Amino acid sequence: MKSIVVLISGNGSNLQAILDACESGFIDGSVRAVISNKADAFGLERAKEAGSEACCLSHKDFPSREAYDQALQKLIESYQADLVVLAGFMRILTPEFVQHFSGKLLNIHPSLLPKYQGLHTHQRAMEAGDSIHGCSVHFVTEELDGGPVVLQARVPIFPEDELAAVTERVHEQEYRIYPLVIRWFCQGRLQQQGNQALLDNEPLSEHGYANDDDEYDL
Ligand code: GAR
Repeated sequence: MKSIVVLISGNGSNLQAILDACESGFIDGSVRAVISNKADAFGLERAKEAGSEACCLSHKDFPSREAYDQALQKLIESYQADLVVLAGFMRILTPEFVQHFSGKLLNIHPSLLPKYQGLHTHQRAMEAGDSIHGCSVHFVTEELDGGPVVLQARVPIFPEDELAAVTERVHEQEYRIYPLVIRWFCQGRLQQQGNQALLDNEPLSEHGYANDDDEYDL
């Protein structure tokens, strides 16, 4: 069974989906620890409830990003992590950290990457008048929100939508695709080779599994 460490900064609803998927056996892995850079992150309560270690490592206790990431790396290693899952961890990681965990560092991002890297993705998609939006699970590389995509889910944006509705619609899909990708990883089916994700040794397309690029008009 694989050892998973999840990094969060807040609510941890994606973390909950992952904990549930481990509990049900959908993911053949166990969340050994949840680490938050914020002490009041509700996800830490979710971790305790599920019987995982819940740690706060506050970035405010470190003089630099490098020092924080070094301490974070050590803490993660103390759990012999096979996989490090970023689930709403709202920090930019140093190249050293990313390189160290290369191939076993996954992130979920609330847009159809490469569209809308960075923050406020739902708002930006709505302001641009997009009718299709979504979320992406990808391996993390040094390029912020730029690593190879494993799986995406699309949701509609309707003209009358408010931000909360779009956010919720994307969240629902996040809870489906993140556990699935983690399941693949724990089954040994998923690999990263440089800027390419492989599933069952087959390279995935720019938009990840089962997405024909020609279908996209983003
Ligand atoms: C999720 O929607 C995730 O996609 C996003 O933060 C949210 C965390 O929610 N991540 C990013 O924006 C990363 N750049 P959660 O704490 O309830 O899982």
